[in-house]
Amino acid sequence: MRILVTWRRVLIVVAALGAGGLLFAWSGLFNVAASSGHWAITDWFLHWVMQNSVKTHSMHIETPDISSPALIHRAAGHFETGCVPCHGSPARRQDLTVLEATPPPPPLLNVNEKWLPHHQFWIIKHGIKYTGMPGWVALERDDEIWSMVAFLRALPSMSAERYRKLAFGDVAFMSVKGESADRLLADCARCHGRDGAGRPNDAFPLIGGQGEAYLLNTLRAYAGGDRLSGIMQSAAARGSDADLAVVARHYASQRAAVSTAPLDPALVTQGERIAREGIKGKSVPSCLSCHGAAERARNPHFPNLDGQHASFLETQLLLWQKKARGGGPYGHLMQAVADRLSEDEIAAAAHYFASRSGAR
Ligand code: HEC
Ligand code: HEC
Ligand code: HEC
Repeated sequence: MRILVTWRRVLIVVAALGAGGLLFAWSGLFNVAASSGHWAITDWFLHWVMQNSVKTHSMHIETPDISSPALIHRAAGHFETGCVPCHGSPARRQDLTVLEATPPPPPLLNVNEKWLPHHQFWIIKHGIKYTGMPGWVALERDDEIWSMVAFLRALPSMSAERYRKLAFGDVAFMSVKGESADRLLADCARCHGRDGAGRPNDAFPLIGGQGEAYLLNTLRAYAGGDRLSGIMQSAAARGSDADLAVVARHYASQRAAVSTAPLDPALVTQGERIAREGIKGKSVPSCLSCHGAAERARNPHFPNLDGQHASFLETQLLLWQKKARGGGPYGHLMQAVADRLSEDEIAAAAHYFASRSGAR
């Protein structure tokens, strides 16, 4: 028997298949139960699609130098709150409940055999649809996402003891009780320490002895999404406004630490000129006209930059240039200043402020 294929017949078949599909969807016969899992072939197919998608979309991404150990410190505390509830850690087995998801979150033990760093970057940044794997809170903060990649590279061979030290610092593991503000402070202290001096490296900014008004505005800006950081937005949003005020007061009352990272003396000299005189031809004002000790006493919303890690100051200025910093109610003042600086001038100003220890 010969069947004549005509456009009309093709259209009728396509329409019938479409109607059949809709009827099946409408009938409710398709089973969305996570408890039934996927057939092996469906599981293979979906992961094949996922792997191809990740590889194609991350093709253009170049991996920067992520060998600094400070990056592992920076991401570890956030891994504990943002990733461990699904993926577990060397110090905590995965929860049995999340293992009943379809697909279940993998324990990340062979994550470095399966994926190259730029694949991991893409997965952490964007998440994976239909799986529960979320994207990064601040998509603008590639620098933070790379720190998480650096952490994942080290994770599979990490002992439970080392993991605890990285993710909890000196805070006793899971043992904090008391008022909600005490518990919030213990959370901050995992990364910043109770004194605000962070780690011996430049993983975290020095926040001890910073002005109270600036600290509170900054925490509110993070919590409200006006300052961008996947790590700090989550941390600040865990506190009520009243508790943020308590921890701001606590850190303002601590003795200020001073960065011990090595500095380039030539940059310090160049930076001192910019900080004192500004840059005439480019209408850059003197930095000390706002960040000097007397000026801060007059306006408590101007942060103290003295002795801060140069790498942190530099990152903040570069973020402003990319419109990716945000800030508190006075943050717009800095946008105009940062936009006028070259990368060399940013490095110089950062090195100069890091070298200042007297006024802190
Ligand atoms: C709500 C649960 C959940 C959270 C929170 C979560 N993930 Fe995932 N993640 C998943 C699931 C589910 C998958 C598996 C996707 C799949 O099978 O395709 C996954 C996959 C991954 C993968 C790919 C692993 C592989 O073997 O293919 C990486 C890497 C990853 N997650 C890292 C992270 C990091 C880093 C964080 C924290 C910033 C995080 N995840 C937070 C659920 C989660
Ligand atoms: C998981 C680690 C982690 C936790 C927990 C954490 N922080 Fe942070 N904090 C960071 C990192 C990383 C940065 C740098 C963020 C950036 O680049 O914007 C930061 C930045 C800050 C800043 C900005 C400093 C400046 O000079 O601009 C303040 C203030 C701060 N944190 C206070 C706190 C307080 C208070 C808590 C507790 C409510 C807290 N942090 C919890 C890691 C953490
Ligand atoms: C008109 C006042 C003003 C001048 C001039 C000024 N700043 Fe600022 N600066 C601020 C304010 C206000 C903030 C806080 C922004 C926020 O986060 O809300 C700030 C924040 C910063 C930060 C981020 C600090 C942190 O802890 O996150 C850096 C870095 C900085 N300024 C560097 C400079 C440099 C370098 C110059 C000179 C080239 C300069 N500033 C000139 C007002 C000023």
